[in-house]
Amino acid sequence: MILVTGCAGFIGSHLCERLLKEGFQVTGIDNFDPFYSRDIKNKNLSIFNSDKSFQFIEIDIRSAEFRDLLLDIKPEVVVHLAAMAGVRPSIDDPRKYLDVNVHGTLNILEAIKSYSIENFVFASSSSVYGGNVKIPYSEEDRVDNPVSPYAATKKMCELMIYNYHHLYSIPSSLHRFFTVYGPRQRPEMAIHKFVRAIYNHEPVPLFGDGSSSRDYTFISDIVDGLISSIQKPQSYEIFNLGNSYTITLSGLIDLLEKVTGVPVKREYYPFQPGDVMKTWSDISKSKKMLSYDPQVPIEKGIEKFVQWYRDEFL
Ligand SMILES: NC(=O)c1ccc[n+]([C@@H]2O[C@H](COP(=O)([O-])OP(=O)(O)OC[C@H]3O[C@@H](n4cnc5c(N)ncnc54)[C@H](O)[C@@H]3O)[C@@H](O)[C@H]2O)c1
Repeated sequence: MILVTGCAGFIGSHLCERLLKEGFQVTGIDNFDPFYSRDIKNKNLSIFNSDKSFQFIEIDIRSAEFRDLLLDIKPEVVVHLAAMAGVRPSIDDPRKYLDVNVHGTLNILEAIKSYSIENFVFASSSSVYGGNVKIPYSEEDRVDNPVSPYAATKKMCELMIYNYHHLYSIPSSLHRFFTVYGPRQRPEMAIHKFVRAIYNHEPVPLFGDGSSSRDYTFISDIVDGLISSIQKPQSYEIFNLGNSYTITLSGLIDLLEKVTGVPVKREYYPFQPGDVMKTWSDISKSKKMLSYDPQVPIEKGIEKFVQWYRDEFL
């Protein structure tokens, strides 16, 4: 049985949907953290909640009850996605990010150290590369300069997982996701926020002069990478999961304008603390070890996102 934390969220709900389609037995847990609306998360869950191979439990990863649950059901695989996500909000509430991301992860490690788990799969983030100037980012690069509390918590988790792997031989695969987008993307994330503003005929807020760039990864490619990782346990490995293609913020807005067919009013603001100028993944290791091969170019992914947005909200 596979246990997925954060199953009601954006990536978790897609992963569960896919695991169930592929015939796995899945237990999903989530505490409906109020970072964004419970209604959205309930809707995500409703897609697969009635599947007989799925069981949902509302529980907090930081709780003793969750530790007891893990010890009780001893899942063969734990995919740990639950977290406080997002760079900018972490600057306003660093204590909560530390508590959920680090203490929550430690709580899981404390449980799984005591039985022979087959695979521990963790969601890290490209944000650990911080202000690194060498591009594209490789798993071998030093990541000692996080520029947000969120990034620092993900790096702390990577270190804690390494330590538990060392002490208790927990097979661990850690994935640094590069900005994930697609249907059900978190409502505060850039592409979702921009498309909402465009269809509401509101100005799109842009931070910086538009020259910052991102490696955007479509959700189905991330899920492919995770599935492959679930099926190929490692001793301890870190993998970049990105698209290995970058687009500038201005280029992204031009693309959204083209795909929506709505003229965009751009509103410029100063570059934000905690943000980085560029993300770009070197995915050669994931290609080699996980046969990871992203299939959805940004043009196609944006079309799919906009189609989903229209079906959902217009
Ligand atoms: N979306 C991205 O672009 C991206 C990029 C890099 C890394 N990640 C990581 O991927 C993971 C999933 O991200 P997402 O975009 O799906 O976020 P999300 O917020 O949609 O999903 C996270 C889920 O975790 C749950 N959760 C939060 N705190 C919890 C707690 N204490 N106990 C139990 N559940 C809790 C939330 O309710 C939510 O449903 C996170 O670890 C995030 O840091 C995401």
